[in-house]
Amino acid sequence: GSTADLVGRRVVVSAGGTREAIDPVRFIGNRSSGLQGYALARTAVARGAEVTLVAANVGLPDPAGARVVRVESAIQLREAVLAAAEGADVVVMAAAVADFRPVRQQATKIKKTPGEPEPIYLTKNPDILAELGETRRKRREEGRPYPEVIVGFAAETDDVLANGRAKLARKGCDLLVVNQVGENLAFGTPDNAAIVLAADGDPVEIPRGPKEDLAGIVWDLVAGRLV
Ligand code: C5P
Repeated sequence: GSTADLVGRRVVVSAGGTREAIDPVRFIGNRSSGLQGYALARTAVARGAEVTLVAANVGLPDPAGARVVRVESAIQLREAVLAAAEGADVVVMAAAVADFRPVRQQATKIKKTPGEPEPIYLTKNPDILAELGETRRKRREEGRPYPEVIVGFAAETDDVLANGRAKLARKGCDLLVVNQVGENLAFGTPDNAAIVLAADGDPVEIPRGPKEDLAGIVWDLVAGRLV
């Protein structure tokens, strides 16, 4: 990829995995390390972009040159991403956002009581990527369609192309990076393999390799779509 093709571009990258509080000390979480999102942020800085990195529970040092906003829950991630997306050229949603959160967050630590534990009831989290797509669709009608490029990530285990295509359409994004979930791939590892689906073009296969390489190819595809 080119070295300065993102100069003057404002980009937002979400990374990591959300935590949904059960009580002050417990949460429902996932195994996302934030490595892929951080690689995307670093690469964008290197290519000249003004980068806001919204990091959910990532145990990595802040990438130099990026504005980092740390969040914990899906609701907080939504607020940070939507705020940063105002006027941004590109949003890349690499974070693993919890689909559900506990209906009630207990104010004090849940105690061990005799007998059966209380159930934890869940409610749906907002789909931030779908919301970004929907907001842009409305703005298109007003003649101010930004962000210009919206990128989603997805992990699929089966029917990668069919499931990926359906997700791309449902979420209204331009590119969907479909990770191949498997042994020693994706979560917490330095390597990744993916297929990038485009709303209006052929899929691009990214062979197994470092997450930095995948980041470079994603920015190549994004840069190619920026007017
Ligand atoms: O639907 P699924 O979770 O597979 O979609 C993954 C993509 O959607 C990722 O880009 C993720 O960041 C985004 N997402 C989101 N809000 C959610 C769930 C997922 O923005 N509540």
